[in-house]
Amino acid sequence: MPNIDLLAMHKLFLENHIKKGGVVADFTMGNGHDTAWLANAVGEEGHVYAFDIQEQAVENTRARLTEAGLIDRCTLICDSHANALSYIHEPICAGVFNLGYLPGGDHTKTTLHESTKIAVEAAISLVDRDGIILVAVYPGHAEGTVEGEMLDEMLAGLDHYRFSVSRLRIINSPTCPFFFAIERH
Ligand SMILES: C[S@@+](CC[C@H](N)C(=O)[O-])C[C@H]1O[C@@H](n2cnc3c(N)ncnc32)[C@H](O)[C@@H]1O
Repeated sequence: MPNIDLLAMHKLFLENHIKKGGVVADFTMGNGHDTAWLANAVGEEGHVYAFDIQEQAVENTRARLTEAGLIDRCTLICDSHANALSYIHEPICAGVFNLGYLPGGDHTKTTLHESTKIAVEAAISLVDRDGIILVAVYPGHAEGTVEGEMLDEMLAGLDHYRFSVSRLRIINSPTCPFFFAIERH
């Protein structure tokens, strides 16, 4: 097991960009762990939009947020993140993608590179100045490898006067999860 917890580092990146009262998006809500973390980070005046294609994920997240008293600051959307621009009509200070499938869930309900590409482009068009988009990739399964390669190519072409894109990856363990951080100047 690596000593560096890449997904914990995810949160360090986010903390530098999320403001109290800000608007953020969780593009892959799953069981709502990230949605709840984001809802706490933006505070009572902030707002979280969260997407998942699985009704069960939306219900699990709704229960988690209700229990934590966070539901009033969240909009839960049962639709593909590829349609994000139909739901979000304001700038976001942060967006999170945790690609792949739910551990312990239906492995066929995984993110797919075609819709991931559209969704990440949408997120980039929504992110405000000083905002950030984080994309966690799981190359341990075939579609995750394709998503990683697609994002490598796409994000390397972003205008460096407007965005800085970093990739955090353990290079001697190629199946470990890694992430991209897209920071807008
Ligand atoms: C790795 S899980 C996310 C885990 C989640 N962040 C959490 O805290 O529990 C990936 C999720 O993406 C969802 N998903 C797959 N394709 C999607 C799509 N096109 N749009 C939105 N969500 C999608 C899956 O249903 C799954 O729940």
